[in-house]
Parts: sequence; C-alpha cells; structure tokens
Amino acid sequence: MGLVLGSGLGAVSERITEFQDLPYSQIPGLPQSSIEGHGGFLRAGTLGGQSVLALCGRVHLYEGYTAAEACLPVRILYELGVRTLVLTNAAGALNPLFSAGTLMCVTDHINFSGQSPLTGPNAEEWGPRFPDLSRVWCPRLVALASAQARRLGLVLERGVYIQVAGPNLETPAETRAYRQFGADAIGMSTATEAIAATHMGMRLLGVSCLTNKNLPDCMAETSHQEVLDMASRAAQDMAQLLEAVAQVLPGLDESADMA
Ligand code: HPA
Repeated sequence: MGLVLGSGLGAVSERITEFQDLPYSQIPGLPQSSIEGHGGFLRAGTLGGQSVLALCGRVHLYEGYTAAEACLPVRILYELGVRTLVLTNAAGALNPLFSAGTLMCVTDHINFSGQSPLTGPNAEEWGPRFPDLSRVWCPRLVALASAQARRLGLVLERGVYIQVAGPNLETPAETRAYRQFGADAIGMSTATEAIAATHMGMRLLGVSCLTNKNLPDCMAETSHQEVLDMASRAAQDMAQLLEAVAQVLPGLDESADMA
C-alpha cells in the first residue's frame, strides 16, 4: 500500500512502525518541497500489519513544478511495487453541510489545475496515451473506508474534490462557481496525482481533511496556518482510519479473487 500525506498530516506517519526513512534530498531527480508543513521523506514500514511506502510531504504546482514533475514520487511508488494508493490532502469544504475538522472520502474529482501529468510523449510502459477516467476512485475502497469510519465512530463524508492551481485561495465568485461545478471540497493537489496513478493502473482511495469552510456568502478569511492547525488536529482521526483500512485491505483482495 502506498500513502501520500498532505499538509499537516504528518501525524499519520507516526502510526507507521518498523520504519526506515529516506529523505527526498537523497532520491535522485525528486522535486524538493519548499513549503512549511511538508516534511519531505519516504517512509517504508508497517501500518495495520500491511507493508506501506509513505510519501511524507508533496510538492505542488504552485511551487513552479509541472504536473509531471510533481507526480514523479507517485510514479516511483508504482515502480517500487505499490498497486493500492491512498492520497490524502487538506481541503476547504465547499459543501455547506460539511464541517471543518471532519474527513471526506473522495468519490470523484475535477482537475481544474490547467495541467495534466500526461502532457508530452506517452510512456507506454506506464500506461495508454488516452487513459479512461470513468472510475478513478475505487468504489470498493470507498465502501471499505466508510465501514471502518462507522466502526470507529468517525464522520467520513463522501464527495467530489476539485484541484485548483493555487497558491492563492478563492474569491467568493470562484467558490460559488466551483460549487456549481459540483465540487464538495477544494484543494491544490491530488487530482493530478490521481491521473498519473490511474494511468499506471493503480487502485485509489482518497481522503480529504476538511480544514475550513469555503462558502461564498459567508466568506471567512483562511490562512495557511489555520489549514495546518486544523489538519494536524484531524490527523489523529485520519491516522486511525487509515490504520483500520490497512488492516482490512487483504480481505478486500481475497473477496475480489472470489468474485
Ligand atoms: N481552498 C483551496 N485549497 C485549500 C483550502 C481552500 O479553502 N483549504 C485547504 N486547502
């Protein structure tokens, strides 16, 4: 299982045992993160009895990287054998029914970043030129995560995530438009990584930590610090959920084999 840990979600990596870390700076060609709250190392260890490779910290398009560069770490996880990938992030809640501090399972996404990691020559060994995106987020993993959240007494909303380029946050008019597009949560990552992962045939689960409400008609100022603080508070819930998901993941494969 692979794991990408977003802003303020470093606490999830603390649940990983028997680990070894490799700083991104020691991985040739890997883009380096310049943002506070993005640790920057690959942790190999065990979570809920599963072998995991966790990317602790990611780079974003707003740092000046292309989508292909920003998705290179996900490509590396695939090359290291990861076939089930969990993408996490901090996101603003566009759905007025969703509360700050809760988690949302991604059921679909809108890539509004203006970039694709597949731009340029296609690497045939990774995947097809025109990959199908009709089912990026594995419904069985959504169901499995929902069941585990229920068992643990955690709120896990479900919804559509929209990726914008950032780094600026949204105007009220933009927030209203994104809501009308059908998005429930908004952030600056994940959709491009999901495209790269789907291109390679990986099975995906996405969990957003809703750090703030982002509503056009009662707009509140949002700071990066607030996003990090709220994410680190909800990170314990995220950690508990992902550990539980890891524990039951082998059962999902067995039931798929039987089907
Ligand atoms: N907008 C965009 N990105 C974000 C937000 C937001 O409100 N919160 C956390 N990341």
